[in-house]
Amino acid sequence: MPLVPPYIESLRPYEPGRSIDEVKKAYNLDHVAKLASNENPLGPSPRAVAEIRKHLDGLNFYPNGGLDLRVRLAAEFDLKVDNVIVGSGSDGIMSNIIRTFLCDDDEVLTTESAFIGFQVLARSRGVAYRTVPYQKWHYDLEALAAAITEKTKIIYLANPNNPTGTIFSKQEFDRFYKHVPERVLIILDEAYFEYAQDNHRYPDSMHYRYDNVITLRTYSKIYGLAGVRVGYGFAHEELIMNLMKVKLTFEPSSLAQVAGVAALDDHEFVHRSLELNARGRRLITEGLRQLGFEVVPSEANFVMVPLEDAATASFLTEELLKRGLIVRQLGAFGIPHAIRISTGTDEENNRLLEAVASIHLKETEHAVSRTSR
Ligand SMILES: Cc1ncc(COP(=O)(O)O)c(C=O)c1O
Repeated sequence: MPLVPPYIESLRPYEPGRSIDEVKKAYNLDHVAKLASNENPLGPSPRAVAEIRKHLDGLNFYPNGGLDLRVRLAAEFDLKVDNVIVGSGSDGIMSNIIRTFLCDDDEVLTTESAFIGFQVLARSRGVAYRTVPYQKWHYDLEALAAAITEKTKIIYLANPNNPTGTIFSKQEFDRFYKHVPERVLIILDEAYFEYAQDNHRYPDSMHYRYDNVITLRTYSKIYGLAGVRVGYGFAHEELIMNLMKVKLTFEPSSLAQVAGVAALDDHEFVHRSLELNARGRRLITEGLRQLGFEVVPSEANFVMVPLEDAATASFLTEELLKRGLIVRQLGAFGIPHAIRISTGTDEENNRLLEAVASIHLKETEHAVSRTSR
């Protein structure tokens, strides 16, 4: 009897993107921009950092399971505390959802090339993982509705979606929801909610207080706190109560909690981050289109660029690395012919466009023959 079940054996550990220091060393560069993980280029929320500093001396005490942050979030969004859960990033909460709700014969349903974090969590549970193709890089909610079976237990939807950056509209969701039985749990992953909220087509799922929907949000993006690991979710109190039975007792950490409470008041930082992102997204989208690239319309803090083939995507990624720009080729997501570029500072965004303009993609042929030799 093997020690590890086959569905774990077949997984691969998550490979983090290359770090700034690693790339500096490898290519002998002074300036490297990381545009690969959809992080906030302005750094962390200053209010959160100040609060973390204030609480360093209390690290000998265990955290209180996130209660202070739940109370603060409930006040912020006009909910009961019983409707709110917090955890080690939205990834941490997703992990709890998988453990709480999935049984061996259940199926998970989502789009192809869904957010890698969800793919890994769902596959590690060993249940059937079913997908439907994108339609022009958008969720095909009609096809998803048609794919629901009596075994479907969880449907995962990210809005805006990672890695495509696209959204589905309120009307599309309403139509879809009519086909979803109550016994199916919908995870609405809104990690990039803040970037999309001003689009009138975007459905803020806070307004969908259905009993079988859980909304997930994070401090990792707009608040610049990816390293702290803190996220939150809203759902019916019974769903939350069951998640609370499974959640790690002491997540989030005490520093994550105080950072989360303080960041909610950092309106100035959020405002600056949104403005920078809007500028960057426009600049990169239009700039790359002018250079002849297809850029998928994005409502998030990154854009996806599908290329001719995987070799071209590898070549462009590598050439950008040499020029001190880290972007993400989407092989792990299952789209190796595409790259994803996060928005950076104004200077980084301009540098990216200049760098892309200086790369001759027809060199791909040479690059391919070089590597295959
Ligand atoms: C769609 C989506 N959901 C969730 C996450 C994870 O966020 P967190 O850092 O809160 O775990 C990410 C991070 O990239 C994401 O893109």
